[in-house]
Amino acid sequence: MKNQTVRIELQERSYCIAIGRSLFDDPRSYAELPAASHVLIVANSTVAPLYAQRLEQALRGKYAAIHTVVLPDGEVYKTWQTLNQIFDALLENQCDRKTIIFALGGGVVGDMAGFAAACYMRGVPFVQVPTTLLAQVDSSVGGKTGINHPLGKNLIGAFYQPLKVVCDLDTLSTLPPRELSAGLAEVIKYGPIADLNFLQWIEDNIDALLAREPLALAHAVRRSCEIKAWVVVQDERESGLRAILNFGHTFGHAIEAGLGYGEWLHGEAVGCGMVMAMELSRRLGLVDAAYVQRVKTLIAKAGLPVLGPCLAASDNAGRYLELMQIDKKAQDGAIRFVLIDGAARAFVREAPEALVREVVDACCVRL
Ligand code: NAD
Ligand code: GLY
Repeated sequence: MKNQTVRIELQERSYCIAIGRSLFDDPRSYAELPAASHVLIVANSTVAPLYAQRLEQALRGKYAAIHTVVLPDGEVYKTWQTLNQIFDALLENQCDRKTIIFALGGGVVGDMAGFAAACYMRGVPFVQVPTTLLAQVDSSVGGKTGINHPLGKNLIGAFYQPLKVVCDLDTLSTLPPRELSAGLAEVIKYGPIADLNFLQWIEDNIDALLAREPLALAHAVRRSCEIKAWVVVQDERESGLRAILNFGHTFGHAIEAGLGYGEWLHGEAVGCGMVMAMELSRRLGLVDAAYVQRVKTLIAKAGLPVLGPCLAASDNAGRYLELMQIDKKAQDGAIRFVLIDGAARAFVREAPEALVREVVDACCVRL
C-alpha cells in the first residue's frame, strides 16, 4: 500500500499528515523535523508499553536526549493535574525552548500534549503520532488542544498546530473494538456535513472498516483528513465554518458530562449526538425521515449507540438543556446546534427549546 500525504495549508503553520503503514517507528517519518537537544514523548499507561520504545528507537539517531512521560489512561485524567505531569517532566529534564513534544496516543494524550506544547516556555514544537482511529481522523489534525473542566469538556485550551501528524494504520491493530467504533463515529460525521459520496462509501465499506482492512482504513483516514483540512484552512480558529465539525457534539458533550467523563466514549456520545442532531434537523424541515434513518442505521452498524442515556429521573430533557448551555458554541446563554440538510451542507443555528425537548424525549431510553 502506498503511503499518502494530506497537507494543511496555514502559511507558516502549514504541515503534513502522513498516512500509511510502518510509519511511526521509521526514522524517515521524522527526517524533516528540526534539530533539538531534547524530545519528550507523552504517552499513557496503555500505549507506552505497546509503542513508546519503538518511537524512542526511531528518534534515537536524530535526538540526543529522549525522555518519556507516562500519564494515567482515561478521559477522567484530561485535567490540570495530569497536564502538570507533562510540565514536571519537561522541567525535571531541563528541556529548553527547542524541545519537541511527541504526542503518542489517542485524542486525550494528543489534546493534553498539544496544550502542554502551547504553554511550555510560551510554545515549543510538537508532533502528533495518533494511535486511535478517532485521533487519526480528527483530534490530531487542526490544532485544537486542551483539557476538561468539571463543568464541561475541552473548556480550557489553545489553538496550536503540530509540526507534523504521523498516522500509522498498523497501530490500529491493537485498538479495542469499542474504540474502533468510537473512531468510526467521527468518520461518519464527515459524510452528512460535507460529502455524500463519502457517506455512500462508508456504507459500502463498513464491514471492511470494522474488519480493519488496511486499504479501507487508509481511505477513511485520508478522506476524513482531507475534509477536515478543507474546513480548517478556511477557519482555523472557529470563527464560523469550523463549528460544522461539531456535528453531533452539542448533544454528545451533554451525554459525556452528564454521565461523567469516560462512562461513554467520546465517539459513542458523538454517534448518538448525530442521531439527535439529525432528528432536530428533520423537525426543522431540513431533512426527511428516510435520510435520518439511513444515517442512524449506519451509526448502529458501526457498533455505536443510537439511543441517548437518561441523565435525570425527572425532566431529562431539562438536564440535557442545562448541560448543553455550557457548550462553547452557546452565545448569550442560547444553545446553538450543528444542523444539516440533505445536500451535505451544515449550519450552526439556535433551535426552539420545545423542539429540542421533543428530540431528547424521542431519542433517549426511558428509566
Ligand atoms: P483516548 O485518547 O482516551 O483513547 C482511547 C483508548 O484507547 C484509551 O484507553 C487509550 O489508552 C487506548 N489506545 C490508544 N491507542 C491505542 C492503541 N493503538 N492500541 C490499544 N489501545 C490504544 O480517546 P480517543 O477516542 O482517541 O480521543 C478522545 C478525546 O479526543 C476526547 O478527549 C475528545 O475530546 C478529544 N477530541 C479532540 C479533538 C480535537 O480536535 N482536538 C477532536 C475530537 C476529539
Ligand atoms: N473536532 C472539531 C474540530 O477540530 O474543530
